Amino acid sequence: MTPLLAHADLQALNTFGLPARARWLAAITGEADLRRVMAMPEWGEPRLVLGGGSNLVLTGDFDGWVLHVAVPGRRLLAQDSEAWWVEAGAGEPWHDFVLWTLAHGWAGLENLALIPGTVGAAPVQNIGAYGLEVAERFAWLEAFDFAAGAVVRIDGAACAFAYRDSLFKREGAGRYLILRVVFRLPKAWRAVTAYADVTKELAAQHVENPTPQDIADAVIAVRRRKLPDPAEIGNAGSFFKNPVVDAATYSRLAADHPGLPSYPQGGGTVKLAAGWLIDQCGWKGRALGPVGTYPNQALVLVNRGGATGADVQRAAQAIQRDVKARFGVELEPEPVFV
Ligand code: EPU
Repeated sequence: MTPLLAHADLQALNTFGLPARARWLAAITGEADLRRVMAMPEWGEPRLVLGGGSNLVLTGDFDGWVLHVAVPGRRLLAQDSEAWWVEAGAGEPWHDFVLWTLAHGWAGLENLALIPGTVGAAPVQNIGAYGLEVAERFAWLEAFDFAAGAVVRIDGAACAFAYRDSLFKREGAGRYLILRVVFRLPKAWRAVTAYADVTKELAAQHVENPTPQDIADAVIAVRRRKLPDPAEIGNAGSFFKNPVVDAATYSRLAADHPGLPSYPQGGGTVKLAAGWLIDQCGWKGRALGPVGTYPNQALVLVNRGGATGADVQRAAQAIQRDVKARFGVELEPEPVFV
């Protein structure tokens, strides 16, 4: 049975806590629910696929169908001498899934502990943290393809993963509802600890040869310190992507700004730290109306109480303007605006 709500309140379904209503809201626990909804006389466009609502800015009411993905289930699908293949329903909370894999001894997702949201949302923006992106552990997913009217299997290459980006944010936007995701977790485990925050945390805990659980614990500790818990303060994680600039731009900026954090990418391009750029503009902990940046991490916009989508947009634009004026760099928002 699919509970269907008309004029449904979405405030509790987006981690920013922004007020908005949906003309129709349906929970989707699998393909059968979806087919039932699509057979209803009211069915139509526009539609919005909603996971944990943790990467979303609702700018107003949604005059269409919100499909709240609630596909349950987690299981070991297969294993061979090289890897475990683990499957999870798109509605499973991501962090619980990570802890469950670790508890079973299937390591490989520990650097992505405590990321808010659901399993189904993880490939959409290719979640990443502390030296790992989900693309590196991804095998394939099953999604309902609204264009084909059928469930399809999509492999990693077809997902076209990039930094906080994939098929599902580009050509495939609005076309698919992800039902299940399969991860490939190599048995030859290697700790990913190159990221300074994690290394420092492990050293502080006097851990020399970290287990996967030690890394998860370190990541959890760092995240708790730096990032606001959406259950306590409304937010959508990093609000901007870290900008990638060409070699000439980087040289100019580095000459003017000693201490500019930089991460060399391929082809001479360099990734900068948006949080640092925002911080340098005096925005850390500062607010415009009910929206401000988090005092411990300027890259995260927070709802200080009663904010609307318009308030978020206003603060984001003010930050973009200041960063552009000071550094000549354009910041691109990471969350999806609806
Ligand atoms: N920094 C400042 N001031 C700030 C924030 C950062 O000076 O207010 C400096 C830091 O000192 C550091 C650099 O900027 O030198 C980078 O900061 P940090 O290591 O905290 O990471 P980030 O670039 O701010 C990215 C991801 C996070 C992810 C962390 C760890 C993006 C947009 N964000 O943040 O992802 O957890 O690295 O890997 O890529 C998310 O996407 O929602 C998210 C939280």
